[in-house]
Amino acid sequence: MKNMKRLLLSALLLTLTAAPSLAGTAPGTGVVGSLHDMNTISGATDDPQARVCAFCHTPHHAMADPTGEQQPLWSHQYTSYISNWTPYASPTFQGGDNWIDPLMGPSRLCMSCHDGLVAVDQHYGMAGTKTGLGGDGWGGRDIGLADAGGNADFSNDHPIGFSYNDAQTNDIGQGLFAASGRQFLSNTNNAALTVEDVLLYGDIMTCATCHDVHNKDNANNTAAPGRNYFVYAPQDNSALCLTCHNKGNGVDEF
Ligand code: HEC
Ligand code: HEC
Ligand code: HEC
Ligand code: HEC
Repeated sequence: MKNMKRLLLSALLLTLTAAPSLAGTAPGTGVVGSLHDMNTISGATDDPQARVCAFCHTPHHAMADPTGEQQPLWSHQYTSYISNWTPYASPTFQGGDNWIDPLMGPSRLCMSCHDGLVAVDQHYGMAGTKTGLGGDGWGGRDIGLADAGGNADFSNDHPIGFSYNDAQTNDIGQGLFAASGRQFLSNTNNAALTVEDVLLYGDIMTCATCHDVHNKDNANNTAAPGRNYFVYAPQDNSALCLTCHNKGNGVDEF
Protein backbone atom coordinates (compact mmCIF):
# COMPACT_ATOMS: atom_id res chain seq x y z
CA MET A 1 0.00 0.00 0.00
CA LYS A 2 2.76 2.35 1.01
CA ASN A 3 4.81 1.55 -2.12
CA MET A 4 1.73 2.04 -4.24
CA LYS A 5 1.31 5.49 -2.74
CA ARG A 6 4.97 6.29 -3.35
CA LEU A 7 4.57 5.28 -7.00
CA LEU A 8 1.52 7.45 -7.39
CA LEU A 9 3.33 10.28 -5.67
CA SER A 10 6.42 10.08 -7.90
CA ALA A 11 4.26 9.85 -11.04
CA LEU A 12 2.41 12.94 -9.90
CA LEU A 13 5.59 14.82 -9.07
CA LEU A 14 7.03 13.99 -12.51
CA THR A 15 4.01 15.44 -14.25
CA LEU A 16 3.81 18.52 -12.07
CA THR A 17 7.39 19.60 -11.49
CA ALA A 18 6.95 22.67 -13.68
CA ALA A 19 4.46 24.23 -11.25
CA PRO A 20 5.68 25.96 -8.10
CA SER A 21 5.04 23.82 -5.01
CA LEU A 22 3.11 26.57 -3.25
CA ALA A 23 3.37 30.22 -4.20
CA GLY A 24 4.31 32.60 -1.40
CA THR A 25 1.64 35.06 -0.36
CA ALA A 26 1.78 38.76 0.38
CA PRO A 27 2.62 39.59 3.97
CA GLY A 28 -0.28 40.61 6.20
CA THR A 29 0.07 41.20 9.91
CA GLY A 30 2.46 38.30 10.20
CA VAL A 31 3.32 35.61 12.73
CA VAL A 32 4.60 37.67 15.68
CA GLY A 33 1.90 37.92 18.36
CA SER A 34 -0.42 35.53 16.49
CA LEU A 35 -1.64 32.12 17.67
CA HIS A 36 1.31 30.77 15.66
CA ASP A 37 3.83 32.66 17.80
CA MET A 38 4.68 29.86 20.25
CA ASN A 39 6.31 32.42 22.59
CA THR A 40 2.81 33.71 23.36
CA ILE A 41 1.09 30.35 23.93
CA SER A 42 0.26 29.65 27.56
CA GLY A 43 2.00 26.51 28.85
CA ALA A 44 4.56 26.56 26.03
CA THR A 45 8.25 27.25 26.75
CA ASP A 46 9.61 30.37 25.03
CA ASP A 47 12.49 30.08 22.60
CA PRO A 48 15.74 30.91 24.48
CA GLN A 49 16.65 33.49 21.80
CA ALA A 50 13.09 34.83 21.44
CA ARG A 51 12.93 33.56 17.85
CA VAL A 52 9.53 33.05 16.22
CA CYS A 53 10.20 31.28 12.92
CA ALA A 54 12.46 28.78 14.75
CA PHE A 55 9.52 26.79 16.12
CA CYS A 56 8.84 25.69 12.53
CA HIS A 57 11.89 26.52 10.36
CA THR A 58 15.68 26.49 10.60
CA PRO A 59 18.35 27.80 8.22
CA HIS A 60 20.47 24.66 8.91
CA HIS A 61 20.11 21.00 9.91
CA ALA A 62 16.49 20.85 8.64
CA MET A 63 14.68 17.56 9.19
CA ALA A 64 13.59 15.34 6.30
CA ASP A 65 9.92 14.42 6.01
CA PRO A 66 9.54 10.69 6.81
CA THR A 67 7.97 10.09 3.37
CA GLY A 68 10.86 11.79 1.56
CA GLU A 69 8.79 14.81 0.46
CA GLN A 70 10.57 18.16 0.24
CA GLN A 71 9.52 20.52 3.04
CA PRO A 72 10.47 24.16 3.76
CA LEU A 73 13.51 23.87 6.11
CA TRP A 74 11.52 22.19 8.90
CA SER A 75 12.79 22.31 12.52
CA HIS A 76 9.86 20.65 14.30
CA GLN A 77 9.35 16.94 15.06
CA TYR A 78 7.07 15.39 12.42
CA THR A 79 3.74 13.80 13.27
CA SER A 80 3.82 10.03 13.46
CA TYR A 81 0.84 9.92 11.08
CA ILE A 82 2.42 8.57 7.93
CA SER A 83 0.22 5.99 6.29
CA ASN A 84 -2.40 4.92 8.84
CA TRP A 85 -5.27 7.22 8.00
CA THR A 86 -8.98 7.11 7.34
CA PRO A 87 -9.92 9.64 4.65
CA TYR A 88 -13.13 11.65 4.31
CA ALA A 89 -15.89 9.76 2.47
CA SER A 90 -19.51 10.48 1.51
CA PRO A 91 -21.92 9.33 -1.20
CA THR A 92 -21.53 12.61 -3.10
CA PHE A 93 -17.79 13.26 -2.68
CA GLN A 94 -16.06 13.13 -6.08
CA GLY A 95 -12.43 13.33 -5.01
CA GLY A 96 -12.34 9.87 -3.45
CA ASP A 97 -10.95 8.14 -6.51
CA ASN A 98 -7.85 10.31 -6.62
CA TRP A 99 -6.61 10.20 -3.02
CA ILE A 100 -2.87 10.53 -2.97
CA ASP A 101 -1.89 10.99 0.65
CA PRO A 102 -4.21 13.07 2.81
CA LEU A 103 -1.26 14.54 4.66
CA MET A 104 0.93 15.35 1.69
CA GLY A 105 2.83 18.63 1.63
CA PRO A 106 2.00 21.31 4.21
CA SER A 107 -0.74 19.20 5.84
CA ARG A 108 1.89 16.93 7.41
CA LEU A 109 3.53 20.08 8.83
CA CYS A 110 0.28 21.33 10.38
CA MET A 111 -0.33 17.92 11.88
CA SER A 112 3.10 18.02 13.55
CA CYS A 113 1.40 20.38 16.06
CA HIS A 114 -2.32 19.80 15.56
CA ASP A 115 -2.21 15.99 15.97
CA GLY A 116 -2.45 16.33 19.75
CA LEU A 117 0.63 14.13 20.19
CA VAL A 118 3.74 16.22 19.37
CA ALA A 119 4.43 19.20 21.67
CA VAL A 120 3.72 22.48 19.87
CA ASP A 121 6.85 24.16 21.31
CA GLN A 122 9.22 21.28 20.40
CA HIS A 123 11.90 22.65 18.02
CA TYR A 124 15.63 22.56 17.22
CA GLY A 125 15.99 19.24 19.07
CA MET A 126 14.67 20.82 22.30
CA ALA A 127 11.75 19.06 23.98
CA GLY A 128 8.53 21.01 24.31
CA THR A 129 6.22 21.36 27.29
CA LYS A 130 2.77 21.86 25.71
CA THR A 131 1.11 18.82 24.10
CA GLY A 132 -2.48 18.82 22.92
CA LEU A 133 -4.69 21.75 21.94
CA GLY A 134 -7.95 20.86 23.67
CA GLY A 135 -8.96 17.80 21.67
CA ASP A 136 -10.73 17.24 18.33
CA GLY A 137 -14.15 18.67 19.09
CA TRP A 138 -15.97 22.01 19.34
CA GLY A 139 -13.65 24.44 21.10
CA GLY A 140 -10.52 22.29 20.68
CA ARG A 141 -7.76 22.88 18.13
CA ASP A 142 -6.58 19.30 17.57
CA ILE A 143 -7.51 17.79 14.18
CA GLY A 144 -7.70 14.18 12.97
CA LEU A 145 -8.83 12.36 16.14
CA ALA A 146 -5.45 11.54 17.59
CA ASP A 147 -4.61 8.05 18.73
CA ALA A 148 -1.40 7.15 20.55
CA GLY A 149 -0.80 4.30 18.06
CA GLY A 150 -0.25 6.82 15.26
CA ASN A 151 -3.62 6.27 13.53
CA ALA A 152 -5.35 9.33 12.11
CA ASP A 153 -9.01 9.76 11.27
CA PHE A 154 -9.91 12.54 8.85
CA SER A 155 -13.40 11.23 8.15
CA ASN A 156 -14.97 14.22 9.93
CA ASP A 157 -12.75 16.86 8.30
CA HIS A 158 -13.01 18.77 5.00
CA PRO A 159 -11.23 16.56 2.42
CA ILE A 160 -7.54 17.21 1.63
CA GLY A 161 -4.79 15.29 -0.18
CA PHE A 162 -6.57 14.86 -3.52
CA SER A 163 -6.37 16.51 -6.95
CA TYR A 164 -8.59 19.60 -7.02
CA ASN A 165 -8.49 19.74 -10.81
CA ASP A 166 -9.54 16.08 -11.23
CA ALA A 167 -12.39 16.53 -8.75
CA GLN A 168 -13.47 19.68 -10.59
CA THR A 169 -13.37 17.94 -13.98
CA ASN A 170 -15.26 14.87 -12.70
CA ASP A 171 -17.83 16.93 -10.82
CA ILE A 172 -21.21 15.24 -11.36
CA GLY A 173 -23.09 18.53 -11.18
CA GLN A 174 -20.60 20.25 -13.56
CA GLY A 175 -20.13 23.76 -12.25
CA LEU A 176 -20.81 22.96 -8.63
CA PHE A 177 -17.36 24.20 -7.92
CA ALA A 178 -15.05 26.75 -9.45
CA ALA A 179 -12.04 26.29 -11.71
CA SER A 180 -8.84 26.66 -9.70
CA GLY A 181 -8.00 29.98 -11.37
CA ARG A 182 -10.68 31.79 -9.33
CA GLN A 183 -9.47 34.46 -6.91
CA PHE A 184 -10.36 34.16 -3.23
CA LEU A 185 -13.44 36.33 -2.62
CA SER A 186 -13.26 39.52 -0.52
CA ASN A 187 -9.62 38.98 0.44
CA THR A 188 -8.41 42.54 1.04
CA ASN A 189 -4.84 41.58 1.99
CA ASN A 190 -4.20 39.17 -0.89
CA ALA A 191 -6.69 40.42 -3.50
CA ALA A 192 -5.06 38.68 -6.47
CA LEU A 193 -4.56 35.32 -4.77
CA THR A 194 -6.12 32.40 -6.69
CA VAL A 195 -6.97 28.93 -5.43
CA GLU A 196 -4.33 27.52 -7.78
CA ASP A 197 -1.64 29.62 -6.04
CA VAL A 198 -2.24 27.70 -2.81
CA LEU A 199 -2.78 24.21 -4.22
CA LEU A 200 0.32 22.05 -3.73
CA TYR A 201 2.01 21.70 -7.16
CA GLY A 202 -0.91 23.80 -8.43
CA ASP A 203 -3.24 20.81 -7.98
CA ILE A 204 -3.45 19.16 -4.54
CA MET A 205 -5.77 20.44 -1.77
CA THR A 206 -3.96 20.70 1.59
CA CYS A 207 -4.62 22.44 4.91
CA ALA A 208 -2.64 25.38 3.47
CA THR A 209 -5.17 25.79 0.63
CA CYS A 210 -7.60 27.36 3.10
CA HIS A 211 -5.26 28.52 5.89
CA ASP A 212 -2.27 30.90 5.74
CA VAL A 213 -0.11 29.82 8.64
CA HIS A 214 1.87 33.09 8.58
CA ASN A 215 -0.75 35.85 8.64
CA LYS A 216 -3.10 36.29 11.56
CA ASP A 217 -5.22 38.88 9.77
CA ASN A 218 -4.96 37.64 6.22
CA ALA A 219 -8.69 37.88 5.62
CA ASN A 220 -10.54 40.72 7.30
CA ASN A 221 -13.67 39.51 9.05
CA THR A 222 -16.14 42.17 10.07
CA ALA A 223 -18.64 40.04 12.02
CA ALA A 224 -16.00 38.73 14.43
CA PRO A 225 -12.65 40.50 13.85
CA GLY A 226 -10.95 38.34 16.49
CA ARG A 227 -11.79 35.11 14.68
CA ASN A 228 -9.75 35.08 11.50
CA TYR A 229 -8.66 31.46 11.71
CA PHE A 230 -5.74 32.26 9.37
CA VAL A 231 -8.09 31.75 6.37
CA TYR A 232 -7.58 33.20 2.88
CA ALA A 233 -11.08 34.69 2.59
CA PRO A 234 -13.38 36.07 5.29
CA GLN A 235 -15.87 34.00 7.22
CA ASP A 236 -18.43 36.79 6.54
CA ASN A 237 -21.06 35.38 4.14
CA SER A 238 -18.80 32.32 4.01
CA ALA A 239 -16.70 33.97 1.30
CA LEU A 240 -14.07 31.26 1.82
CA CYS A 241 -16.47 28.41 0.99
CA LEU A 242 -18.05 30.32 -1.92
CA THR A 243 -14.66 30.86 -3.51
CA CYS A 244 -14.66 27.17 -4.50
CA HIS A 245 -18.25 25.99 -4.12
CA ASN A 246 -20.79 27.62 -6.48
CA LYS A 247 -23.66 27.78 -4.01
CA GLY A 248 -24.46 31.48 -4.33
CA ASN A 249 -26.38 33.68 -6.77
CA GLY A 250 -24.06 32.89 -9.65
CA VAL A 251 -22.76 36.47 -9.98
CA ASP A 252 -20.48 37.20 -7.04
CA GLU A 253 -21.48 33.92 -5.36
CA PHE A 254 -23.10 35.72 -2.44
C1 HEC B 1 3.67 27.60 13.13
C2 HEC B 1 4.64 27.19 12.16
C3 HEC B 1 5.31 28.23 11.31
C4 HEC B 1 5.92 29.39 11.72
C5 HEC B 1 6.03 29.95 13.12
C6 HEC B 1 6.50 29.96 10.53
N1 HEC B 1 6.23 29.18 9.44
FE1 HEC B 1 6.88 29.44 7.55
N2 HEC B 1 5.85 27.82 6.91
C7 HEC B 1 5.09 27.02 7.73
C8 HEC B 1 4.39 26.04 6.91
C9 HEC B 1 3.43 25.00 7.42
C10 HEC B 1 4.79 26.27 5.58
C11 HEC B 1 4.31 25.52 4.33
C12 HEC B 1 2.93 25.96 3.97
C13 HEC B 1 2.81 27.32 3.42
O1 HEC B 1 3.73 27.84 2.77
O2 HEC B 1 1.74 27.92 3.62
C14 HEC B 1 5.71 27.39 5.61
C15 HEC B 1 6.35 27.92 4.50
C16 HEC B 1 7.29 28.93 4.55
C17 HEC B 1 8.05 29.42 3.41
C18 HEC B 1 7.99 28.85 1.99
C19 HEC B 1 6.71 29.19 1.27
C20 HEC B 1 6.41 30.66 1.21
O3 HEC B 1 5.33 31.04 1.70
O4 HEC B 1 7.24 31.47 0.74
C21 HEC B 1 8.82 30.43 3.86
C22 HEC B 1 9.82 31.25 3.06
C23 HEC B 1 8.56 30.61 5.29
N3 HEC B 1 7.62 29.67 5.66
C24 HEC B 1 9.16 31.55 6.10
C25 HEC B 1 8.83 31.78 7.43
C26 HEC B 1 9.39 32.85 8.25
C27 HEC B 1 10.43 33.86 7.77
C28 HEC B 1 8.84 32.73 9.48
C29 HEC B 1 9.01 33.63 10.69
C30 HEC B 1 8.59 35.02 10.52
C31 HEC B 1 7.93 31.60 9.44
N4 HEC B 1 7.95 31.07 8.17
C32 HEC B 1 7.23 31.14 10.52
C33 HEC B 1 5.00 27.10 9.09
C34 HEC B 1 5.49 28.12 9.87
C1 HEC C 1 -10.01 25.74 -2.05
C2 HEC C 1 -11.31 25.28 -2.46
C3 HEC C 1 -12.31 24.94 -1.40
C4 HEC C 1 -12.69 25.69 -0.32
C5 HEC C 1 -12.16 27.06 0.10
C6 HEC C 1 -13.74 24.96 0.33
N1 HEC C 1 -13.94 23.78 -0.31
FE1 HEC C 1 -15.26 22.34 0.23
N2 HEC C 1 -14.49 21.11 -1.18
C7 HEC C 1 -13.63 21.48 -2.17
C8 HEC C 1 -13.44 20.37 -3.07
C9 HEC C 1 -12.60 20.39 -4.33
C10 HEC C 1 -14.21 19.30 -2.54
C11 HEC C 1 -14.37 17.92 -3.15
C12 HEC C 1 -15.66 17.98 -3.89
C13 HEC C 1 -16.08 16.67 -4.46
O1 HEC C 1 -15.26 16.03 -5.09
O2 HEC C 1 -17.25 16.33 -4.28
C14 HEC C 1 -14.86 19.80 -1.35
C15 HEC C 1 -15.71 19.08 -0.54
C16 HEC C 1 -16.62 19.65 0.34
C17 HEC C 1 -17.77 18.98 0.93
C18 HEC C 1 -18.09 17.50 0.80
C19 HEC C 1 -18.91 17.26 -0.42
C20 HEC C 1 -19.41 15.85 -0.47
O3 HEC C 1 -20.01 15.55 -1.51
O4 HEC C 1 -19.26 15.06 0.48
C21 HEC C 1 -18.45 19.91 1.63
C22 HEC C 1 -19.77 19.73 2.36
C23 HEC C 1 -17.71 21.14 1.55
N3 HEC C 1 -16.61 20.95 0.75
C24 HEC C 1 -18.05 22.31 2.18
C25 HEC C 1 -17.19 23.40 2.29
C26 HEC C 1 -17.40 24.50 3.21
C27 HEC C 1 -18.57 24.66 4.17
C28 HEC C 1 -16.37 25.36 3.03
C29 HEC C 1 -16.06 26.61 3.78
C30 HEC C 1 -15.83 26.44 5.22
C31 HEC C 1 -15.52 24.80 1.99
N4 HEC C 1 -16.06 23.61 1.58
C32 HEC C 1 -14.39 25.40 1.46
C33 HEC C 1 -13.02 22.69 -2.29
C34 HEC C 1 -13.10 23.73 -1.38
C1 HEC D 1 -11.79 23.89 3.04
C2 HEC D 1 -11.06 24.75 3.86
C3 HEC D 1 -10.28 24.18 5.00
C4 HEC D 1 -9.37 23.16 4.97
C5 HEC D 1 -8.90 22.35 3.78
C6 HEC D 1 -8.86 23.03 6.32
N1 HEC D 1 -9.49 23.93 7.14
FE1 HEC D 1 -9.12 24.24 9.12
N2 HEC D 1 -10.66 25.54 9.23
C7 HEC D 1 -11.35 26.05 8.14
C8 HEC D 1 -12.27 27.08 8.60
C9 HEC D 1 -13.20 27.89 7.74
C10 HEC D 1 -12.11 27.16 10.00
C11 HEC D 1 -12.84 28.11 10.97
C12 HEC D 1 -13.81 27.40 11.85
C13 HEC D 1 -15.16 27.18 11.22
O1 HEC D 1 -15.67 27.99 10.44
O2 HEC D 1 -15.74 26.10 11.56
C14 HEC D 1 -11.09 26.19 10.36
C15 HEC D 1 -10.64 25.95 11.66
C16 HEC D 1 -9.49 25.27 11.97
C17 HEC D 1 -8.89 25.21 13.27
C18 HEC D 1 -9.40 25.88 14.53
C19 HEC D 1 -10.14 24.92 15.42
C20 HEC D 1 -11.45 24.49 14.88
O3 HEC D 1 -11.63 23.25 14.76
O4 HEC D 1 -12.30 25.33 14.56
C21 HEC D 1 -7.76 24.46 13.16
C22 HEC D 1 -6.77 24.10 14.25
C23 HEC D 1 -7.66 24.05 11.77
N3 HEC D 1 -8.73 24.55 11.06
C24 HEC D 1 -6.62 23.29 11.25
C25 HEC D 1 -6.67 22.67 10.01
C26 HEC D 1 -5.77 21.60 9.58
C27 HEC D 1 -4.66 21.03 10.42
C28 HEC D 1 -6.15 21.25 8.31
C29 HEC D 1 -5.62 20.13 7.47
C30 HEC D 1 -5.64 18.80 8.11
C31 HEC D 1 -7.26 22.13 7.93
N4 HEC D 1 -7.55 22.96 8.99
C32 HEC D 1 -7.90 22.11 6.70
C33 HEC D 1 -11.19 25.67 6.83
C34 HEC D 1 -10.37 24.65 6.38
C1 HEC E 1 4.58 24.79 15.74
C2 HEC E 1 3.25 24.27 15.97
C3 HEC E 1 2.18 24.57 14.95
C4 HEC E 1 2.21 24.33 13.59
C5 HEC E 1 3.33 23.74 12.77
C6 HEC E 1 0.92 24.74 13.09
N1 HEC E 1 0.14 25.21 14.11
FE1 HEC E 1 -1.73 25.96 13.99
N2 HEC E 1 -1.72 26.45 15.96
C7 HEC E 1 -0.72 26.10 16.85
C8 HEC E 1 -1.06 26.60 18.17
C9 HEC E 1 -0.23 26.42 19.44
C10 HEC E 1 -2.30 27.28 18.05
C11 HEC E 1 -3.06 28.02 19.15
C12 HEC E 1 -3.77 27.01 19.97
C13 HEC E 1 -4.42 27.53 21.21
O1 HEC E 1 -3.95 28.54 21.77
O2 HEC E 1 -5.41 26.90 21.58
C14 HEC E 1 -2.69 27.15 16.64
C15 HEC E 1 -3.86 27.65 16.12
C16 HEC E 1 -4.29 27.40 14.82
C17 HEC E 1 -5.57 27.79 14.30
C18 HEC E 1 -6.69 28.51 15.05
C19 HEC E 1 -6.72 29.96 14.67
C20 HEC E 1 -7.86 30.71 15.31
O3 HEC E 1 -8.03 31.90 14.93
O4 HEC E 1 -8.57 30.16 16.17
C21 HEC E 1 -5.63 27.35 13.00
C22 HEC E 1 -6.75 27.55 12.02
C23 HEC E 1 -4.37 26.69 12.73
N3 HEC E 1 -3.58 26.74 13.84
C24 HEC E 1 -4.08 26.08 11.52
C25 HEC E 1 -2.83 25.56 11.19
C26 HEC E 1 -2.49 25.06 9.88
C27 HEC E 1 -3.44 24.95 8.73
C28 HEC E 1 -1.18 24.69 9.92
C29 HEC E 1 -0.32 24.19 8.78
C30 HEC E 1 -0.37 24.96 7.52
C31 HEC E 1 -0.72 24.93 11.28
N4 HEC E 1 -1.75 25.46 12.01
C32 HEC E 1 0.56 24.65 11.76
C33 HEC E 1 0.45 25.43 16.55
C34 HEC E 1 0.87 25.10 15.26
